Amino acid sequence: MTEAPLTGHIKDGETLDLRAYEAIGGYQALRKVMQEMTPQEVTALVKESNLRGRGGAGFSTGMKWSFVPMDGKGPKYLICNADEMEPGTFKDRWLLEGNPHQLIEGMIISAYAIQADISFVFMRWAYKEAAAIMRKALSEAYAAGYLGSNILGKDYHLEMHLHTGVGRYMCGEETALLNSLEGKRATPRAKPPFPQISGLFGRPTIVNNVETLSFIPHIMNKGVAWFQSLSRTGDGGTKIYGVSGRVNKPGAWELPMGVTVRELLEEYAGGMQNGYGFRGALPGGASTDFLTTEHLDVPMDFTAIAAAGSRLGTGTMVVLDDHTCPVGFVHNLEHFFAQESCGFCTPCREGLPWTEKILYALEQGHGTTADLEQLDLHTRWLGPGNTFCALAPGAMEPLQSALKYFREDFERHVHEKKCPYGNHSH
Ligand code: NAI
Repeated sequence: MTEAPLTGHIKDGETLDLRAYEAIGGYQALRKVMQEMTPQEVTALVKESNLRGRGGAGFSTGMKWSFVPMDGKGPKYLICNADEMEPGTFKDRWLLEGNPHQLIEGMIISAYAIQADISFVFMRWAYKEAAAIMRKALSEAYAAGYLGSNILGKDYHLEMHLHTGVGRYMCGEETALLNSLEGKRATPRAKPPFPQISGLFGRPTIVNNVETLSFIPHIMNKGVAWFQSLSRTGDGGTKIYGVSGRVNKPGAWELPMGVTVRELLEEYAGGMQNGYGFRGALPGGASTDFLTTEHLDVPMDFTAIAAAGSRLGTGTMVVLDDHTCPVGFVHNLEHFFAQESCGFCTPCREGLPWTEKILYALEQGHGTTADLEQLDLHTRWLGPGNTFCALAPGAMEPLQSALKYFREDFERHVHEKKCPYGNHSH
């Protein structure tokens, strides 16, 4: 049986309240940290654990914290990015609804490590149930003395607030999130300066994902060797993976970091549905490159998936089957990205709707060979380095890899002047 520290105690459809969380050892890590550890020791331990950010980018969590100035000057902020809106991604919701105190405890310890005074859970607008659960959990934590003044008798004070977003994908980008939290339009900011130096209201700020922060109490309790032992690869810990598409058992599972694409598909998702074959998959939500049958034995960790030409991203795989038109599939994604562009930088604002239009024309049988060249050009124009944030480059990942692996499908749309799959995306 695989050890699942983040989700092992969550029963379907139930929430661990404060008493239930304490009964399984909850808030013991906070007690230990407050009694025995300096902020610097907490950061050093997290750095040593090689906990990599689970929001999608995989940046070292401990390293990120180590950039925060420890000059005794306030205020400083810790923000949990719970604005989970990557298509096909529903892993953080499981943690938010199932075990909110695990996240709150992780946030208090993380805030202590950087000596933050105020923390926010920035939650996706549509996560209404999670928001209600978090509100209740926060009041329980305040009542128990885990938040507020003199936490567990220590001269450390922390306020924690829930802030619900406005339902835009852009708000999950950490600097757009900061603008949104400040009451401004959610457009991204230039980096550097990174938020660790100049974040919310220009003050040092750490933004970490729900899954990342939920690991912190466990690392404090059980240490680095244990954390490493959970993983099959150099990237430590477990990972919440998900699979959606025409598989027998779509869902999410907490598994050792580094399970293979094949294991996920066949063992956990129960294989493809009867009559459907596997053509490819986006390993980490919509903004990643396709993997195909040649990648089935690639371990799902940050390093191996990157070597295979894609990104682990959120680790929640979207499967393309052999009855679904790859052009229609990508058109659907580009429709989403075009709609969610914040409009701040020109390549993204203009390029994404144009991309969507070309894909639509192809699907309707009006595409030309020149359109395919235009799509190739767009993947470069909207690629890394040409836009203000990662939204458009992320949007180009499924397109550029579809053009690479499923080129003949694009060409058939042109030559047959219709969608060979009989699909008509709208
Ligand atoms: P990024 O790689 O620019 O940054 C990741 C984190 O590391 C940030 O907190 C950043 O401040 C920090 N960082 C990076 N380089 C740094 C440096 N040189 N010095 C100090 N700090 C540094 O990636 P970004 O744009 O924050 O996120 C993109 C990722 O988000 C993608 O991998 C995508 O998969 C994921 N994503 C997740 C979504 C979700 O719903 N969970 C939605 C959309 C995208």
